[in-house]
Amino acid sequence: MTQHVTAALPADAPSDDSARREWWRDAVIYQIYPRSFADGDGDGMGDLPGATARLPHLKRLGVDAVWLSPFYASPQADAGYDVADYRAVDPVFGTLPDADDLVRKAHALGLRVIVDVVPNHCSDQHEWFKRALREGKGSALRGRFHFRPGKGEDGELPPNDWESVFGGPAWTRVPDGEWYLHLFAPEQPDFNWEHPAVHDEFRSILRFWLDLGIDGFRIDVAHGLVKAAGLPDIGHGEQVKLLGKQAVPYFDQDGVHEIYRSWRRILDEYPGERIAVAEAWTPTVERSARYLRGDELHQAFNFEYLTTGWDAAELRAVIDRSLDAMNAVRAPATWVLSNHDVVRHSTRLADGDAARGLRRAKAATLLMLALPGSAYIYQGEELGLPEVTDLPDEVRQDPAFFRSTGQDGRRDGCRVPLPWSGRRAPFGFGPAEGGPSWLPQPADWQELTVEAQDGDPTSALEFYRGALAVRRAHPALGAGRDVEWLDSPKGVLSFRRTTPRGSVVCTVNIGSAPVTIPTPGTGTVLLSSAETAPGADTTILPADSTVWWAA
Ligand code: NOJ
Repeated sequence: MTQHVTAALPADAPSDDSARREWWRDAVIYQIYPRSFADGDGDGMGDLPGATARLPHLKRLGVDAVWLSPFYASPQADAGYDVADYRAVDPVFGTLPDADDLVRKAHALGLRVIVDVVPNHCSDQHEWFKRALREGKGSALRGRFHFRPGKGEDGELPPNDWESVFGGPAWTRVPDGEWYLHLFAPEQPDFNWEHPAVHDEFRSILRFWLDLGIDGFRIDVAHGLVKAAGLPDIGHGEQVKLLGKQAVPYFDQDGVHEIYRSWRRILDEYPGERIAVAEAWTPTVERSARYLRGDELHQAFNFEYLTTGWDAAELRAVIDRSLDAMNAVRAPATWVLSNHDVVRHSTRLADGDAARGLRRAKAATLLMLALPGSAYIYQGEELGLPEVTDLPDEVRQDPAFFRSTGQDGRRDGCRVPLPWSGRRAPFGFGPAEGGPSWLPQPADWQELTVEAQDGDPTSALEFYRGALAVRRAHPALGAGRDVEWLDSPKGVLSFRRTTPRGSVVCTVNIGSAPVTIPTPGTGTVLLSSAETAPGADTTILPADSTVWWAA
């Protein structure tokens, strides 16, 4: 009858073993967005010491690893995705010893640490780019970027028609008349990956962080490094957005794979299964799977899943497509619903009704966590945080917001600092009540703090803790290759996952009305996202709900 039943776990459930083989095949990886996670020094910006102090929250939550978005030295033109020094921590986030401390404390808790690497572009304040500007046309340093003369009589037109993902042309002219390529903001010049020095530099950067003890990399814009020869025109506007799937000459070129083969060799030199996950937006999941061939990377984000609506047929189709594509290269499927670039799923699925949004978010989360493979959780989703949709324009910092077209520029709403405790902003995000936070938090987040939800069996937090505990303990959940679809009424997804040591049935009612189904499995509810009363023969599945059944 209750929402969070954790009965009938098999007795031989695996123990917490962070050293197990191929940990990444079923890992639950929690994304820390450092500037918004926890502020240790009270300057209003999250930092590494703040994050380290909050690691016990993640241990208790039950995740396997954390992925930290960039904390490197950066002018913060794109919230740290504009890196000025790949081997230094930005003072806003702390110091290198702070990074070391975070890694050591995470490891002591049995949590692995993945860090972002940003190889497509750097900051215009990176030493190489500053020198390229200074040393002028034809200089060796310009060869490490894409500098070109312009078109038109006086070179006053960009070298080609490529658009920045953030809007406007992908080229900016420098005072001596040449143009440089930036697929993102003008402050983010693209590296030229035809140049051997770029390859050497990144191999060295990977080693730097691997030597420090990190467990893997999330590769930013992994599909963008190699551009089509000759930088050909596309011939039309409206080219690409973040998470776009169009085939364009600056993304998903075959040449990128050789780079990842060389990176894999480096990862494999290190003990302890260091991994890499690609942020690669490709036209199809099959194209994404190419990044995961045996000698390339370990995982890729499944953006096709993230962008699928709350629709039974579409979800089933994307699940099948993803598993087929990943099985073909023996890679784990991954599942993700939210990150720092998209509207939080509790709001995305809400259709304007916050309560419905939370209901669907919990149901979607249980579905995601029942699927074979690895899952990503974005900080704050375990608190049921909604997107903040009413931020005043003057506090917004997303660079895309300030440009007229391209990516919608509304990414600040999912980046609002987390509420931890207390009844006054910044709700424990920083050390002092009434202290600053780089984006304002809604006043009603006092109800959503970790402190407020801790121990409340109806809270989103306890729901996530329960789900991750059952997933970890049940042999039929986590790693795997297939789901067995079961007959179900329209609008309901039902599948079984079977191992010799136990089976689980997952039922999801995607519809907005309750549906009666034959009671699945043994009739024992392992976990459900809404109140469910299993009958001996039939059970009513509430609207927008997921149930895990022992089978
Ligand atoms: C993808 C990152 O997730 C996003 O936040 C960033 O703006 C772009 N890459 C450019 O680095």
